[in-house]
Order: sequence, then C-alpha cells, then structure tokens
Amino acid sequence: MDWGMKNRLSQLIKSNGRCMFLPIDHGYFQGPTSKLERPGETIKPIIDYADALFCTRGVLRACINHENSKPIILRVSGGSSMVGKDLANEVLTTSIEEAIRLNASGVGISVFIGSDYEKETLLNLAKLVDEAERYGIPVMAVTAVGRELEKRDARYLALCCRIAAELGARVVKTYWCENFDKVTNGCPVPVVMAGGPKTNSDLEVFEFVHDGMQKGAIGVNLGRNIWQNEHPVAMIRALRAIIHENATANQANDLFHTLKNEKKK
Ligand code: 5RP
Repeated sequence: MDWGMKNRLSQLIKSNGRCMFLPIDHGYFQGPTSKLERPGETIKPIIDYADALFCTRGVLRACINHENSKPIILRVSGGSSMVGKDLANEVLTTSIEEAIRLNASGVGISVFIGSDYEKETLLNLAKLVDEAERYGIPVMAVTAVGRELEKRDARYLALCCRIAAELGARVVKTYWCENFDKVTNGCPVPVVMAGGPKTNSDLEVFEFVHDGMQKGAIGVNLGRNIWQNEHPVAMIRALRAIIHENATANQANDLFHTLKNEKKK
C-alpha cells in the first residue's frame, strides 16, 4: 500500500483501529431530510465528536467550513430519488478529479445487490476502485437496500459485503443485523455499521452498536439516530464512548442521560 492510501486511511480509521463516521449524505436521494434541512447547522454542535464526515460535493461546498474540517468521505454515487422509479438505478455522479480537488480522504458509493441494477451498481464500484486506487483514495462501499429494509439479514448482508470487498472496496458500510459476526467473518476488509431510520428507543441504538462492535465491526457511519435525536450531542458522545472507549450499551445509556440532563441545568 502506498503512502497516500495509508495516510488517507489513517485519517479515517484512528490508531485504535476504530472509526466514527458522521453521514449527512441523505439529501442526495431524499431531498431535505428531517433535521438535515440545513446541514451546516445540523453538524455544528456534533462534528467535533466525529472522525470523518460523509457528504456530497454540493453540501460540502455550500455548507461545510473549509477551515479545520474533519476528513471528508465524498458520496460519489446518485442519480435516483425517492419519487423516481427505482432507487437502485444509480451512476457515478462525481469524478475522481473532483474528489482530489475537494481534498477528500475517501469516496463512498452505493451498491444494490439483488436489485434490477445489481450489475450496473457493481460495475460503478469496480470502475470507481480502478480510478480511486490510482490516486491512493480509499473507496467505501455502501450496501444499500433501497426501500426494502426487510432484506437486512445476515445471509444477505454477508453476501453484499463480501462482493463489495472482492471488487476492491477498502471499507464496507452495512446495516447491523442478528448474527452480525457472519457478516464480518466473511468480509476481508473493515466493516462499519449504518444506523438506519430513527429507532423507537435510544438504548436500542447503543445495544446494536455495542453488539456489532463485539462481533467485528470497526465503527459506525451513523446519521439519523444522532442528528434526528432531540439530544444529538449526548447521543454522539455516548456512541463515541462505545466505539473509542469500549463502553457497554448500559454505560453509554447512562452517559447519554447524564449529558442530556447536564444540558438542562
Ligand atoms: C444514505 C447513506 C447513509 O450514509 C447511511 O444510511 C447512514 O446513515 P443512517 O445512519 O441515517 O442510516 O448511505 O444513503
């Protein structure tokens, strides 16, 4: 591995081998997602607790301060929307030159395995890996399920992660599921967990993140369950404690409540 690739990966994955990515890329197919209408304002109180930010070039240019920025993972796939025919019908939307111009530490792309666009999205990934590797830029593959959230079981996600890794992704982002070790054991590159739609309870998030970490994930790329929470700072700090300080789910939950109540005083 060349110095540039090693350096970029070390910006994203900390020396303890763990990472806390903060995604705010949802608008690229959802439009102004709740609590992400003004991404610059949303991240202001929480960005200090993230290791990297996952966003599109449009949001990066328009909303993110260029000074003292966190490392950026640039979302470079898109081309479909919530109101279109098929969310899986994605293409590469951003060139590698643009990623370099924007000083991205990594690039991220979705693959939709099992969809009508399986082959196209896998070829998008393969092409991106060819281009990004030439410049030492790591690719994060996102195993997307579109609207079919019920697809998220270990057998399917293990298949997706393995295929993404085989095509050259340096990191794979997937959903947590029961028996998550089946997903991480079959994937030769680091796996990070997305959060999915906002859960009913905060404890649920701490529990699945802790379980996933015990079962081989290196961290999270988790958005809505942080910035759609009424207490986003307490939430991100509690999750960070699980990822970087080996806190249990209950310890994280206690920390969350302490921080949330401190704010009220
Ligand atoms: C959206 C994404 C998100 O980055 C990913 O789903 C993580 O965010 P969340 O925790 O809100 O699910 O890829 O397309």
